[in-house]
Amino acid sequence: MSMNLNEVQRASQEQFARQSDRYGKGHILENVDDVRAALEHVTLPAQARALDVATGGGHTGLLLAGLGHAVTLSDITQAMLDRAGETARERGLSVETRLHSAESFPYANDVFDLVTCRVAAHHFSSPESFVRETARVLKSQGWFLLIDGTVEDDQPEAEEWSHQVEKLRDPSHHRFVTPRTWQRYCEQSSLCVVHSGLTPFKMPDLNWYFQTAATTAENRRKVLELVRTAPESARKLFRLGEEDGKIVWWWQRLTLVAQKAAKAR
Ligand SMILES: C[S@@+](CC[C@H](N)C(=O)[O-])C[C@H]1O[C@@H](n2cnc3c(N)ncnc32)[C@H](O)[C@@H]1O
Repeated sequence: MSMNLNEVQRASQEQFARQSDRYGKGHILENVDDVRAALEHVTLPAQARALDVATGGGHTGLLLAGLGHAVTLSDITQAMLDRAGETARERGLSVETRLHSAESFPYANDVFDLVTCRVAAHHFSSPESFVRETARVLKSQGWFLLIDGTVEDDQPEAEEWSHQVEKLRDPSHHRFVTPRTWQRYCEQSSLCVVHSGLTPFKMPDLNWYFQTAATTAENRRKVLELVRTAPESARKLFRLGEEDGKIVWWWQRLTLVAQKAAKAR
């Protein structure tokens, strides 16, 4: 399928096509306890129809498939879908895979019981369009489950610092969206937020984080300088520190669960 991609989408596609083998077994995203916890806010029918957007290694969608739901894994990067499909086969799970962007879906209105998206939306060129599309394809009273890095509201200096770091480390990073802005996108699309919470999540080693994105030597130097000169607000908010000679910090991760409004009769 050919897609007309904008610059931000193309950067993601190129980055993840190169790095696809790093997101499967052994990646920290393989642990889906965060998805399990978020699902406690959701009530699904048996064999719900679920769409996992920007599925990457497929960890979120495959958890749902393992629970007996009918799952479509989608991503903008074919190599990622291939990997996720292989993992599904290894686990004896049957899923559909679809190549498309998060900003525009090839589905009819009102077809899914659940749309999930985990640790990916910070790459999207338009998270607002993504939420609009999510609301469109959800059935009446269907669920939206989002997990992504964020920076809490009203922390502009720390937000800018983390943006500089993430962008240098991985040029396909677009921007973390703050919780209040996600809430606004949901409200604009008739999605009612039923849960929104921040959890700290450890970045265990800056060198590992560089390798994951194949960060260039020059950008590694720039990030190290940003770490050295980080403002107090960022140091405090992200608990920036050193452990056993490794640079570590704690991301803020947002879990947001929203439900589509019931159709007026
Ligand atoms: C870190 S991985 C996702 C992790 C995965 N959701 C999980 O739960 O393990 C990020 C994925 O986002 C995809 N991606 C980035 N920008 C995208 C976009 N605009 N539309 C769809 N997928 C996108 C990348 O191809 C990549 O596979």
